[in-house]
Amino acid sequence: MEAKLERIALEAREALLRATSLEELEELRVRYLGKKGELTQILRGMGSLAPHERPRVGQLANKVRQDLEDLLKARTEELKSRLKEEMLEAERIDITLPGTALLTGRKHPLTAVVERIEEIFLGLGFAIAEGPEVELDYYNFEALNLPKDHPARDMQDSFFFGPDVLLRTHTSPVQVRVMERTAPEVPVKIIAPGKVYRRDDDATHSPMFHQVEGLMVDRRVTFGDLKGVLEVFAREMFGPQTRTRFRPSYFPFTEPSAEVDISCVICQGEGCRVCGMSGWLEILGCGMVHPRVLEMSGYNSEEVTGFAFGMGVERIAMLKYGIDDLRLFFENDLRFLAQF
Ligand code: PHE
Repeated sequence: MEAKLERIALEAREALLRATSLEELEELRVRYLGKKGELTQILRGMGSLAPHERPRVGQLANKVRQDLEDLLKARTEELKSRLKEEMLEAERIDITLPGTALLTGRKHPLTAVVERIEEIFLGLGFAIAEGPEVELDYYNFEALNLPKDHPARDMQDSFFFGPDVLLRTHTSPVQVRVMERTAPEVPVKIIAPGKVYRRDDDATHSPMFHQVEGLMVDRRVTFGDLKGVLEVFAREMFGPQTRTRFRPSYFPFTEPSAEVDISCVICQGEGCRVCGMSGWLEILGCGMVHPRVLEMSGYNSEEVTGFAFGMGVERIAMLKYGIDDLRLFFENDLRFLAQF
C-alpha cells in the first residue's frame, strides 16, 4: 500500500506540473483528491491494514494528500496569473499606433452645383418650386404650346408610360404648375431644380440629367430684366470676369427666345479646344413667356409678362470643374467624386 501511495504521489505530481490550463488542474483534482479520487480510495482501504501499520501509512497518506493539495494550489495560482497577464496583453492599447482615419463624406458635385445655383437665385428673391418627374403630357408639352403634332416635340424624345403620361423631358412643366396655382396673382418668382429624362446617351448626354428652371411673371417684366438676372447669375457662378451673350433661338413656349453663352471659362474668350475656338460656351435657353402659355395657365397676357429660362446642371458643373465626360457624374467612382 505504501508503494501504491508513492506511485500515485509521483504520478499526480508530474501531472500537476505538466498541466497547462485551469480545466486540466480541475480534472486532476477530481481524479486524485476528489470524493471518488484515487487517494481517497486508498484512505478508505486503510481498514484492511494490520493495526500497527495504520499510523505510518495514515501519516504517509496524509502527507501525500497535503503535498498534492499544496502543489495544486500553487499551480492554480500560477496559471491564473498567467491567464490574467495574457488577457491584459491582448487588451493592451498602444497609444503610439497611428489612428484609423474616419472617412468623411462630401457632396456630389451635382448637388453642390444645384445648391450654389439655388443660393444665387434665393439672393435675387426667387423661391424654390418643385414638380413631379412622372408628368402628364399636358404639362410637359400641351400647356407649353407644344400640341400633339408639333414638330418641336422631336427635340425631346421621351419615355412614355402611356399616351398621356411620361418622364418629364425638361423642368418647364413646373412653370405651368406654379402659374396655374398662383394665377391671377403676381409676382411669380421661382426656380425649379430637378431631374429630367430624354432618349439620349453619349459623352455629353445622359438619359437622366438635371435642370434648373426659372420663371418670373409680373406687370412689365422685360427682356432687360431677363438679361440682368442672367448676367448676375453668370458672374456669381463663374466669376466676375464672365461675359454673357444672347443669341436668338426658338422654343415654342417663349417669344422671343434666346440661347445664352458665357465667355469661355478656360480661355476667357481667346478661343481654345473647350469652346471650339469660338470663345463662347452655351449654358441655357430662355425667353419671354409666350402669351399663349400665360393665357393657358390663367394669366391675362395683356396685363402681365414674364421671362423663363432653363439650364442644364451637368453642363454647368462640367464647365465649372473642367470635366469632359458627363458619364463620370453617374459612375460613382470615388477616385472621381473625392476630387470635389
Ligand atoms: N425647357 C427648355 C429645354 O429643356 C429650356 C428653356 C426653358 C427654354 C425655359 C426657354 C425657357 O431645352
